Amino acid sequence: MPTVIFNFSDDRQQVVEAVAGQTLMQVAANHGLEGILGDCGGACQCATCHVYIDESWLDQLPEMDGMEDDMLEGTAAPRLAQSRLGCCVILEAVHEGMVVTLPPTQI
Ligand code: FES
Repeated sequence: MPTVIFNFSDDRQQVVEAVAGQTLMQVAANHGLEGILGDCGGACQCATCHVYIDESWLDQLPEMDGMEDDMLEGTAAPRLAQSRLGCCVILEAVHEGMVVTLPPTQI
């Protein structure tokens, strides 16, 4: 049950309990977090689950595949070095305390 810390673009912060095996997008949706849409339901087809992963956690994540890399070229908010798609990041116990920032817009 990793805890994930979500930062919002208006400086609010929400700490949520995730379930190992769920994606960041699923966790955000399950907790009704604003700032992440997930319009395609997690099929890596919409890029509305764009998130910025805190730099200190990037090496704990699975490598980005070509489809995710392509979709990140179409995000509404700028793509940064910390950008990932929330539906492509599966949470595990090692992600306890991971910090994720939601972009100011997804559309
Ligand atoms: S939910 Fe659509 S790309 Fe992640």
